[in-house]
Amino acid sequence: MWGKILKLTSIQSCREEILEALHQCRSQTLNLFAAIDSDTFYLQVHPDFSPVGWHLGHIGFTEAYWILEQGANYAPLFPEYRKLFAADGLPKAERANLPSLEVIQNYLDTVRSKVFRYLETAPLEKEERLWRWLIQHESQHNETIIFILQLHHWQKNLISSSVKSQKSYSIPNVSDMVEISAGEFMMGSDAIDAQDNERPAHQIYLDTYWIDRYPVTCRQYRKFMTTEGYQNHQWWSEEGWQWLQANSVSQPLYWSNSKDWDNHPVCSLSWYEAEAYANFAGKRLPTEAEWEKAASWNAVKGKKVTYPWGEDRPNKRFCNHDCLIGQTTPVNVYPDGQSPYGCYDMLGNVWEWTASWFAGYDRFASYPYPGYSQAYFDKQHRVLKGGSWATRSWSLRTSFRNWYHPWVRQILAGFRCAADRS
Ligand code: AVJ
Ligand code: FE
Repeated sequence: MWGKILKLTSIQSCREEILEALHQCRSQTLNLFAAIDSDTFYLQVHPDFSPVGWHLGHIGFTEAYWILEQGANYAPLFPEYRKLFAADGLPKAERANLPSLEVIQNYLDTVRSKVFRYLETAPLEKEERLWRWLIQHESQHNETIIFILQLHHWQKNLISSSVKSQKSYSIPNVSDMVEISAGEFMMGSDAIDAQDNERPAHQIYLDTYWIDRYPVTCRQYRKFMTTEGYQNHQWWSEEGWQWLQANSVSQPLYWSNSKDWDNHPVCSLSWYEAEAYANFAGKRLPTEAEWEKAASWNAVKGKKVTYPWGEDRPNKRFCNHDCLIGQTTPVNVYPDGQSPYGCYDMLGNVWEWTASWFAGYDRFASYPYPGYSQAYFDKQHRVLKGGSWATRSWSLRTSFRNWYHPWVRQILAGFRCAADRS
């Protein structure tokens, strides 16, 4: 009997947690739209990205489809929106013909009120994973909307090139590397909020390696630029060099030459540029396993932590995320967010490119549908870890995996390097 009561109260607190997260995530989404003019709402700023207004409709469609149709078994609410707002509906270039912000917002509200009604009695013992997935789905689109707005502001020359005033800090010894001794660690996660691509958790053995204590900074990267790194074929892979010739790139997308950014992580560059810099520095990019071990393994306790600092939910003490600051921060201002090995900024600030192709772990099983992750196990996408200053807390953890084509530069990504010896 006590067991049953305990189970009921824990389901009840889970229900409340989900309700609270749905509310919070939605208010973050709508806040983004409060400052958007109507031209921007419909605009496709780049062929690889849909208009921000489409993302808003897609958030509502996904919620209606997975919770109301698949969960509650309701008939489709607005069948006419399937073609427009499903991810496999229209090509990106045809997603500009949208209902207005007001109409889409009403759509979201209508879906929401039914979702909240259903949540009161939804069978969370079997649906908890789905609800937690949905919250992360919205929070990831939330970040994509920010990528698009950043790009748009940059195109209009509106990105402020000045650094927000921040607390004073010592200049980091950025060439510092951390030794990670040979041994097993636990990669991935089986937690209830883990995405399909994080599962199953599994042991991996790694030989001893070294990894940068900090992400590569703008000061370090400038050295590569001023010593003709972009002109020097020897640092580039064949594929990277071809990309470079075809795109005539000579600096990261949002690069500012001001020394004010010297101790900030370099940001908005492609995987090819990260790879070339690593070669120039006599290092290499870490594999995702190397990155994850450095971020999450407590070798003393033989235990994995969810966040580099432990198990407390992300907050402003630990890392730069959730648009709390709205730009990068110097790489050493979050000592409380260090990993057990002493690496800084493993979560937040900038996404970090890794050497790994995105692929499923052994015994991978799609959830909730193959198009979510499996469709990208194609050796065309590189794994990014850690989250950026715009990543929402629900997608911020050491096991989380992001993936993009190696040439994408609009995603607030930087990197750190690894090496076999110091
Ligand atoms: C994991 C961020 C690459 O935005 O394409 C959203 C997440 N998947 N809807 C993406 C996603 C389906 C995905 N990324
Ligand atoms: Fe989506």
